[in-house]
Amino acid sequence: MAANAALVDYLTTRRSVGIGFLRDPGPTPDELQTLLTIATRVPDHGKFAPWRLVIIDGDARAEAGRRLAEVARRRNPNLDESGLDIERRQFLPAPLTIGVLYSPRPNPKAPELEQLLSAGNVCFNLVHGAFALGYAASWVTRWYAFDVEAQTMLGARGGERFVGFVHIGSTEVKLDDRDRPSLDSVVTRWAP
Ligand SMILES: Cc1cc2nc3c(=O)[nH]c(=O)nc-3n(C[C@H](O)[C@H](O)[C@H](O)COP(=O)(O)O)c2cc1C
Repeated sequence: MAANAALVDYLTTRRSVGIGFLRDPGPTPDELQTLLTIATRVPDHGKFAPWRLVIIDGDARAEAGRRLAEVARRRNPNLDESGLDIERRQFLPAPLTIGVLYSPRPNPKAPELEQLLSAGNVCFNLVHGAFALGYAASWVTRWYAFDVEAQTMLGARGGERFVGFVHIGSTEVKLDDRDRPSLDSVVTRWAP
């Protein structure tokens, strides 16, 4: 396979763009299909597809946020109007958010850890796919990925849990890179 300088350049310089910087337009319907195809083309020991994707776009964004605010109010009855508004805007302004559910298929062929890692790869492939199509993206979880009622409201079924919400949109910001670990601090060479 020939070296791909553009891909190397992307992989060595890529960084997420915070969800507050994402704007319209989002992917077209055709681009969304491409994005979903990229996202689901991940290593998957046993070929169990132990993940599902939930698209939150259009008017569903505000409705999901409104329902999230209701859950948040039940968790914290003292939440004031500005706190509730933050929850109502969880899926705004990004034009598209894709929630990734880890959907384990218990099987001795692929331990659950491997299945979970496959679901994580779906999240990161969504990020890569978004950038490849000319958009920006960010993978977050936030509190509602750890709240059973919120997860159910957002589409989790029995035994499933969200491992990420990938927010996708256009952006004009150019962000400085964040600190990265030095290779020396994380890489060793095995020696007997
Ligand atoms: C599983 C997972 C969950 C995350 N959840 C959050 C989150 O809830 N809120 C947040 O601000 N960042 C969260 N992050 C970090 C963001 O992805 C952040 O943008 C990332 O560290 C930027 O790294 P990058 O520039 O290398 O893409 C999460 C990252 C991962 C891997």
